[in-house]
Amino acid sequence: KPRIAILISGRGSNMLALIQAAEQAFFPAEIGLVLSNTPHAEGLAIAKAHHIPTHVEDHTLYKKNRQSHEEAIHAVLKQANIELVCLAGYMRMLSDYLVTQWEGKMLNIHPSLLPTFPGLNTHKRALEAGVKIHGCSVHLVTEIMDDGPILGQAAVPVLPDDTEKSLALRVLEQEHKLYPRVIKHFIERASAHPKGEFLLNG
Ligand code: GAR
Repeated sequence: KPRIAILISGRGSNMLALIQAAEQAFFPAEIGLVLSNTPHAEGLAIAKAHHIPTHVEDHTLYKKNRQSHEEAIHAVLKQANIELVCLAGYMRMLSDYLVTQWEGKMLNIHPSLLPTFPGLNTHKRALEAGVKIHGCSVHLVTEIMDDGPILGQAAVPVLPDDTEKSLALRVLEQEHKLYPRVIKHFIERASAHPKGEFLLNG
């Protein structure tokens, strides 16, 4: 089975959804590593409790040198024989360096129906905009933040009494279902078409 690395910065609820999916026989990959850019990510303890190897590459130790931080991350991913990188609440901007190394093999989950509301505070902005449908997207990571081919989306209604918190929760519930499903399809399609955009060991 191909090995996935999950990159996190915080709570890690999407990470947990992926770990739990990978614990099921139907899932075509294993979680080989959870990597955080901060030692304070709550998700690290959850990963450890599930016996997943964890690694912290603390960006504050790299001063302002984003590329050297990413070079360190890349080396760790290679060392762990990772074939697919899944960002799950990884809140650090990536430079072209890491994105290029993992082109076609790095996915992200974003809490909006892209291309609307890229960036931060998506739920607040959705409420302010008065949209009636909101949701989440899984996409391939490219040099442009929250851009790149959309691989899957899930929609939820925005209800009249919604607060940022209630809307975020409704979306999050869908994130936890969407991300494992999209990864499964992505990997199965890749093995069916080994010359496709996702090359196992390629
Ligand atoms: C999730 O809602 C994820 O979609 C979002 O952060 C949250 C992380 O929660 N990601 C972004 O906003 C990326 N720009 P989690 O740590 O519990 O998975």
